[in-house]
Amino acid sequence: MKAAGILGIAKYTPEKIVTNADLEKIMDTSDEWIRTRTGIEERRIAEDSMDTSHMAFLAAEKAIANANITAEDLDLILVATVTPDQPFPTVACMLQERLGAKKAAAMDISAACAGFMYGMITAKQFIETGAYKHVLVVGVEKLSKVTDWNDRNTAVLFGDGAGAAVIGPVSEGKGILSFELGADGTGGKHLYQDEYIIMNGREVFKFAVRQMGESSINVLEKAGLSKEDVDFLIPHQANIRIMEAARERLNLPVEKMSKTVHKYGNTSAASIPISLVEELEAGKIKDGDLIVMVGFGGGLTWGAIALRWGR
Ligand code: UT7
Repeated sequence: MKAAGILGIAKYTPEKIVTNADLEKIMDTSDEWIRTRTGIEERRIAEDSMDTSHMAFLAAEKAIANANITAEDLDLILVATVTPDQPFPTVACMLQERLGAKKAAAMDISAACAGFMYGMITAKQFIETGAYKHVLVVGVEKLSKVTDWNDRNTAVLFGDGAGAAVIGPVSEGKGILSFELGADGTGGKHLYQDEYIIMNGREVFKFAVRQMGESSINVLEKAGLSKEDVDFLIPHQANIRIMEAARERLNLPVEKMSKTVHKYGNTSAASIPISLVEELEAGKIKDGDLIVMVGFGGGLTWGAIALRWGR
């Protein structure tokens, strides 16, 4: 079995910034409420003309360059999104055309905010068996188009963006060391899309606090590692209070947890890769570091990975 790791990674976030103060002008909310309850200060919102597949493309082409390969080297494209341009053709197929990834198979993965974890772990199987050499995994959302801008319970939380990673073989001991994936359909009623996103915030909050902590511990145990071994925690960026609970469960100091929720809000499937890119750009992740990534979302779904950084 080959080890599967990240060969290249990149992000795209829209230019347009919507601050809490901007939201105060259009709904009954306050900067103080949003900051203290969620940690969010601003979010990026894509222009009408910038659809999900376009954001995916802008992140993907940079990730491919970062991996030092070309689009024609890709064997498979997996796009995690709950906001595709349309039901089909999938965003993955649109991306395949746009990138010119002629030999790649392509499909979307629908697992809400845990989508990037589902994508990475699916990619890992193809790499480890040797079936494929390069799998492009994209987490991308245009949540602004399914947000009810009259519902303050949800409208203040979400943002748009994309993160993309090329998964491929890495040396033994590097890459994905262990994973956990899970789902609980009985909780589907707490977070779903009708025309717009509908959420029972308190129920999702309780689930998330429990699951993020448990899944993080589980992947460490599966890899034969302990909390003390963790160099960096990259949690799904939904709410700073949920993220803090996961960090405390791992006994990590503040500086060992990635925090981008204040800048981007909750970008669902894109939040983990966007955060990983930000930490890499800030020079905070070194070769050989142990990273725990953990996400949860509507479905309910969850996923976690223990990853040794490097090739
Ligand atoms: O990726 C997964 C997606 N979802 C999540 O991760 C969401 C998880 N849940 C949460 O993050 C939190 O539950 C929220 C941030 C959504 C809400 O925070 P909370 O501390 O659980 O607040 P709450 O639901 O208990 O609401 C407290 C009050 C309510 O007023 P009353 O009924 O107590 O009078 C809400 O109406 O805050 C009110 N409220 C707001 N006030 C100002 C709700 N949204 C807002 C708002 N501005 N935007």
